[in-house]
Amino acid sequence: MTQAADQTRIIKYQVRPAVLEDIPSIHSLLKHYAGMGDLLPRTIEDLNSNIHHFRVIVDKKQILACGSLEHFTEELAEIRSLMVSEQSKGLGLGRIIVENLIEEAKQRKVGRLMALTYVPEFFHKLGFKTVSKEIFPEKIWGICVNCYKFLNCDEIAVLLELK
Ligand SMILES: CC(C)(COP(=O)(O)OP(=O)(O)OC[C@H]1O[C@@H](n2cnc3c(N)ncnc32)[C@H](O)[C@@H]1OP(=O)(O)O)[C@@H](O)C(=O)NCCC(=O)NCCS
Repeated sequence: MTQAADQTRIIKYQVRPAVLEDIPSIHSLLKHYAGMGDLLPRTIEDLNSNIHHFRVIVDKKQILACGSLEHFTEELAEIRSLMVSEQSKGLGLGRIIVENLIEEAKQRKVGRLMALTYVPEFFHKLGFKTVSKEIFPEKIWGICVNCYKFLNCDEIAVLLELK
């Protein structure tokens, strides 16, 4: 890629904090992936309360990619609702969002960053390791216990140690 083309790509794929007007587009993408069983559904109310945790890449008011960084404890945070629109997959946007969230986690002095996922290979490329879910009692007893998949959860836990 030429330097000029590379710069266009960087400008085009700028990550920014989400704002309230992004919610309908985030919700619609989440509904799409929740319907496919890739992600857990979230209500508009849940997104309203947690929108400040989200980072997005937007083009013409449509979400191309997003993800959120949410805390359980002072030292443990989770990447949630990570998704890239179907037409934007494979362009490196997922990586850009996760790298941005890792930087954000470091600035907040998070010690451990985890995710529950069906695509551990994607996270491995970013330095995460597969671990047992049991090492996150904060997540299991605080959040997962309320999830419809609680008794049959087949998601894989991945972890990035930041300290
Ligand atoms: C998983 C997802 C976020 C990846 O986003 P993406 O923008 O397509 O991924 P990227 O282009 O940034 O890929 C980064 C690297 O991961 C690899 N990768 C991407 N998706 C992968 C997958 N499903 N399986 C294995 N590796 C994958 C890429 O090949 C690339 O590797 P490279 O750096 O060696 O070239 C996207 O496919 C998606 O939104 N999926 C549906 C929702 C979902 O499952 N979210 C994850 C919930 S935790």
